[in-house]
Formats: sequence, structure tokens, C-alpha cells
Amino acid sequence: MDIRIKKVLQDQPVGQRVAVAGWVRTRRDTGGFSFIEINDGSCLANLQVIADKGLENYQQDIKNLATGSSVVVDGELRKSPAKGQAVELHATKIDIVGGADSETYPLQKKRHSFEFLREINHLRPRTNALGAVSRVRSRLGYAVHNFFQQRGFIQVHTPIITTSDCEGAGEMFQVSTGRERSGEDHFFGRSAGLTVSGQLQAEVYALAMGDVYTFGPTFRAENSNTSRHLAEFWMLEPEMAFCDLDGNRKIAEELLKYLLADVLENCAEDMALFDKFIEKGLIGKLQDVIAKDFIHISYTEAVERLEKAGDKFEYAVRWGADLQSEHERYLSEKLFRCPVAVTDYPASIKPFYMRLNDDGKTVAAMDILVPGIGEIIGGSQREDRLEVLQSRMIETGIDPAEYDWYLDLRRYGSVPHAGFGLGFERLVQFVTGMANIREVIPFPRTPGSAPC
Ligand code: 4AD
Ligand code: MG
Repeated sequence: MDIRIKKVLQDQPVGQRVAVAGWVRTRRDTGGFSFIEINDGSCLANLQVIADKGLENYQQDIKNLATGSSVVVDGELRKSPAKGQAVELHATKIDIVGGADSETYPLQKKRHSFEFLREINHLRPRTNALGAVSRVRSRLGYAVHNFFQQRGFIQVHTPIITTSDCEGAGEMFQVSTGRERSGEDHFFGRSAGLTVSGQLQAEVYALAMGDVYTFGPTFRAENSNTSRHLAEFWMLEPEMAFCDLDGNRKIAEELLKYLLADVLENCAEDMALFDKFIEKGLIGKLQDVIAKDFIHISYTEAVERLEKAGDKFEYAVRWGADLQSEHERYLSEKLFRCPVAVTDYPASIKPFYMRLNDDGKTVAAMDILVPGIGEIIGGSQREDRLEVLQSRMIETGIDPAEYDWYLDLRRYGSVPHAGFGLGFERLVQFVTGMANIREVIPFPRTPGSAPC
């Protein structure tokens, strides 16, 4: 049985015989030896293998072992005399499982730009930075489940194919059987699309099971080429019955702090890499986020603060207009220098399902803005009054008959309830300091993305 390099470096079982399987990062030859660095993806660090010229395939194979080749190494772990590593593997046998042509292998021993790596999407997880992002992303997903399961939330698998355009923004990709010409309309006789959010279905389960969450891929057919938008992204959406906007905001803050603390503790080696090469001071910044209370202001206050900031924005600030990302970043990055929860937005710029406030003009909406990213969370308390919901639907051009099932939730045992959506890639960006969202999802789907 192979042992993972992470375990070898953690336990440092000097004297033990082990087999390690991985990919060659570098090879260096001296008189009678080769030093081979191998990586198996389990951690950032490579394991140094010492191959003696006495090995039977040394002359013809090992001495020509190219970067990118896959190997299984049997050997004995010894204390390393070199700086920066505790143990090294003295090989008794090296099997070359798959060779590589060093002339054509695209990953050379130098730093490649992220733009270049996007063109070789299928090889980029073999680099230090993208490997580290993958481990951090995996850990964050695990921590999400821990957080909610520890608090008694039930996970619901909401559908990918749906007829409801939750956000009402006309950004639903259409699903088709490909047989429309024979009389079928898109999806077996009706039109359907890929979900933009699992919220409406999460509400169904919250109104039966209390606290629930859904976590999966969502899709938006927005043709925007920015460092924070994808056509396919993952969203975490908790939905809580018997919960108002304040309760919603508190859970969102607790969740973000929990996730940051978890990654700082469990991905320390990868986080140190980001802190050193991607965003200087990242770890300290995340520790500050954990230590301090988030700021809470209303949309109206936010607009006043932005107006006071003068005319430094490309887009003018005006009550009734949505906040642009430059405004969001000004609030969280410059003015408060910490995460900011902005609540109670004008009803006219928000979807039909948000609860209308007593002023009749604003809704119980909540966005959480973080430095470097802007909006990371969007949520609200939901409209739980049947008549108000029906008239909000009509106002926003939605046919209530299409959402009769959703209205039933208000007809039978309606309760105040609230929830939010955390953009998972924006979270990974925030945690790793990666400037572009294309670096934090394994296979980015954007206009013009690489095929793979
Ligand atoms: O603000 P949004 O559109 O809210 C909803 O979809 C609600 N139905 C969620 C809910 O209340 N259950 O999206 C939520 C979050 C945003 O704050 C952002 O982090 C992320 O999803 N997001 C995107 N991430 C990447 N690419 C895109 N195109 C995104 N659109 C939204
Ligand atoms: Mg939003």
C-alpha cells in the first residue's frame, strides 16, 4: 500500500520502509546519485527521493527521468541532513509508471502566469498554486457541511433543471431535448432551464423541516467577463424557518468566521503559500475578520456614506440604484476595512420574494460585502404574506399561476423565514487572495473558456 506524502511529512517515521506514488517535479544528478523531488497532491511539499546509481534501472531510466513522469518509489525513510525537510526517501526500487517528454511537457521549472495555466486547464492542478487552491476548496466544502450538520441543519438536494427563474433576471440557460422540431418544446413539452439558485426549493423544505441548506452548482447566462463572475458556479444556500433578517445576518457572520478559522487551522501550509506569493498579509487580514464584529448599515445609510465620499466613482450613487462593485468595495475596503452587511434595499431593485418592509419602499434584503471582492453573500427575509407576495409578483411581471406551489407555502402554515446564498468561488477567492475567479474553480465556465 502506498503512503501519502502528507502523512510521511507529518509522522516522519524514520527507519520505516514505505512505497510512495507521485509525479516527478525535478531531478538533479551528482556523481553517484540522483535527487528526485516528487509530489503526490496530498500537500504542497515535495518528498525528496535519493536514487543511488546501484539501482538496476539507474543508467537507462532514472538518469533520464523527466519532469511530469509518474513513479512508484519503494524505499526507506531516513532523517534528512538537508535544510527545510525532515525526512528523505532512500529508494530501493523506482518503477516508472508513465514517462513524459520533457521537450513538450508544458510545465517547466519556472513560474507560469495564471493566464497561461488557464490554457492548460488539464495540467494546472500539478502546479503549487492550483494544487493549494484545490486543497483549500476541498477543505472549505467539508467545513460547510460540518458547520451546518453540527447545528442540526438538513441538507436538501435541490434540482438543477427547473422552470423557476428565482432571481427573475432573465439569466436562465434553457434546457432542450434537441427534438423541438418534432413538436417537443425544450423539455418534454414545456420550457425549462438550469437553476440560477436553489432557494425556492430550499424554502419548500425549510417550511417542512425547519433549518435546511442546499449546496450545489448554479448557472447564470450572463455574458459578463469579470474577475468575479462565472456562468457556472457553486452556491451554498441555507434557509431557516422561524427566522428574521437579524437572525439571518448573524448566521452568515458566524458561518464566514467559522470557515476562515477552519481553513487557517487545517490548511496552514497552503495558506502560508498564498500569504507569501499571492497576497501579502493575507493571513493577518483573515485573522482580523474573525476577531472583529462585522459592520451593519442600511442601504440608505450606505448611499449617504457613498455620497459623502464625493465623485470618485465611475457610476453615480443615487438612492434607488443598485450598488456597483466599486461602491461595494469602497465600503468594505476603504471606509470600514472589514466585512459590511448592508440591509434594507429598495424593493424596486430586488426580486419578488423579499419581504416588504413597513415603509412600503424597501425590502428585508441583506448583502455581505468583503474587502477585495465586494458582494460575497446575498440573502433576505422572505415575503411570508400571501397577498403581499401575489401583488409583488404582479408588479415584477411574474405570473402567480406559474408559482402556485410557492404560494401554497404561504397558504398553509406560513412562517417568517429567511436565508442567503454564499458564492462558493467568491469565498475561495477571499480565502486564497486569488485575483481572478477562474483560478478557484477547477473548470471555469465563462464566455470563451478553454474546453475541458
Ligand atoms: O445575490 P444572488 O443572486 O442571490 C441569490 O441567488 C439568492 N437566491 C440566494 C439566496 O437567498 N438563497 O447570489 C448569491 C451569491 C452572490 O452574493 C455571489 O457571491 C454569488 O452568489 N454569485 C456569483 N458567483 C459567481 N459568478 C456569478 N455569476 C455569480 N452570481 C452570484
Ligand atoms: Mg446579489
